[in-house]
Parts: sequence; structure tokens; C-alpha cells
Amino acid sequence: MKICTTIDEMRNASRAARRAGMRVGFVPTMGALHEGHLSLVRAARAASDVVAASIFVNPTQFGPTEDLAKYPRSFDRDRELLEREGVELLFAPAVEEMYPTANGSGGPTPDQSLADRSVRPTQNTWVTVEGLSDKLDGRSRPGHFRGVATVVAKLFHAVEPDAAFFGQKDAAQVAVIRRMVRDLNLAVEIVVCPIVREADGLAMSSRNAYLDSDQRKRALVLHRSLMRVQDLAQAGERDAGKLMYTGREVFAEEGSVRLDYFEIVDPDTLDPVAEVSGGALVAVAAFLGSTRLIDNVLLPSA
Ligand code: PAJ
Repeated sequence: MKICTTIDEMRNASRAARRAGMRVGFVPTMGALHEGHLSLVRAARAASDVVAASIFVNPTQFGPTEDLAKYPRSFDRDRELLEREGVELLFAPAVEEMYPTANGSGGPTPDQSLADRSVRPTQNTWVTVEGLSDKLDGRSRPGHFRGVATVVAKLFHAVEPDAAFFGQKDAAQVAVIRRMVRDLNLAVEIVVCPIVREADGLAMSSRNAYLDSDQRKRALVLHRSLMRVQDLAQAGERDAGKLMYTGREVFAEEGSVRLDYFEIVDPDTLDPVAEVSGGALVAVAAFLGSTRLIDNVLLPSA
């Protein structure tokens, strides 16, 4: 596996593969890899001649009070896992490579978030997907999707992949990226892979590592609420208001878990739907202590 730390190195390696007629599949990550990430790598492996992955904890998608500084980092382990999956190219740039200063020296440290003013003068151009960036997680985490869309655009320019693989786990992120690709006519196919869960239903997440054993048990309320709603929809309930009420009620049973949102929306526009017959995204976010977890389920059109 070749490890590229500069954009030039990454781009040259990817261009060489594409010039040789090979299809490049790309899996962007922030590291702390688990089976969810690896499922994307396997999907990319199956659909591509060359697999590129990236590990970059992107400071501009973290808010001022969020977990940038303590976000789990395990580069050596991640590198081994990717190597074992047969990844050919690993892009692992430093923050200064992705967000250089105007004079090309220095740059933000890994601990500088989007709220940190010292980052702002180094990045005047942002990708804001209007109408989507402020929905669901974007409403709870102002600026988050601007950081995500901007870094994904930068990563696409560094890797120039034929296809990029994302997890349904981050359903709003998928909507934002798809829309960005469409609006900017980017020549990248977006492939979305299903949510990988622990045996008891908890969606895998790098942030699950923050949970103590009591919180880990209580965290199942996210999945439980989604299953309750899915069952009710399968039994014929179409009214999104009633379904949402049911989902929120499940949280009332688990008092120590603070619900951020429980919504039923159109998976592409992230706008609320009145009824779920046309297919709908049921999305939930909740806090266990200071750890914020998300999960979702897609209801098929009926
Ligand atoms: P990260 O949270 O590391 O996730 C990388 C990819 O793995 C995302 O596409 C995410 O949806 C997917 N993923 C995470 N948990 C999953 C699970 N349980 N099942 C399936 N897929 C899962 O998402 C990001 O990083 C960043 O925002 C990024 C796109 C890299 C931009 O910085």
C-alpha cells in the first residue's frame, strides 16, 4: 500500500492508475476504522481496480465545543486494516496540506476547529449546499456540512476517483454530497452502502468508543425507536406525524438519553414529509452524556 501525504503525490498515483485504464474507487474516512468503514472498502474493492482510502480528521467540520481534540486516532492500526483489505493507495495528509496558509507556511494545528478564527483567513472558499446544509445534523451542528462538503470536494480533487463510497449511516451527509456532485457537475459516481451494526443493533461508529458500559446499554434506544417506527409503518401506518410521535415516545422511556431530533424526511431534500408512502428517511440523533450518536432507517415506497 502506498501512503501519500501530499496532494501532488496522491493525484499522480491516481492519475497513473487511470491512465493505465484502471478504475479508481475512493473511500474517505476520518480514521478510527471499524467494520462500517471496512464494508465501504470491500464495496470499493469489488467495484474498482484500484482502491484509494483517506484518513483525515477534518477540523472544519467540528464545532467549537465538539470533540476534535479527543477524536479517536489510531493511524498504525488503521493502516494495517486497510492493507489487509488490499487497499493500494492511502491518502493521509496533515492539516497544513489540506488547509495551507496564504503564504504557504504554517497553517492551522490539528486542534483548530471551524469556530477558530485563525483557520478562516486560510480558507476563503467554501462549499455550502444551500437548503440541505442546515437540516438534521446541520441544524444541530451549524457549519458542519460546510466543512464536510468543502473537504470532500478537496479530497475528490486530490484523488480524482471514478467512484466514491459513503455509508448510509450518515444519511444527511449522503444527501449533501450527492447534491454537491450534481450541482457542481463532478465526474464522480457516488455509491452508498448499508449501515453496519453491532450484534445488538447499535450502529457502528467511531464515537461508540466514548460510551461507558451503562451508556452503551442505553444507546440501544436509538435502534429500538427506529425499529418501532419501521414495524408500525410496515403494519400500514402512513402518517409521518404519528410515526414520529411513536419514535419520540420510545425516548421518553429512556430518561437519561437526550433526544436531539427524531424526524421523518425526504431522503434527497431532507424536508419533512406528511406521509411515508413515497419512501422516507427516519433519522434520529441523541446525546448520551456528551456523546452524540445518530442512526436512521429508510422506509421503502409503498
Ligand atoms: P467517518 O465518520 O470516518 O466515516 C467515513 C465513512 O464511513 C462515511 O461514509 C460513513 O457514513 C461511513 N460509516 C461510518 N459508520 C458506518 C456504519 N456503521 N455502517 C456503514 N458505513 C459507516 O463521514 C466521515 O468520516 C467524514 O464526514 C468524511 C466524509 C470523511 C469527510 O471528512
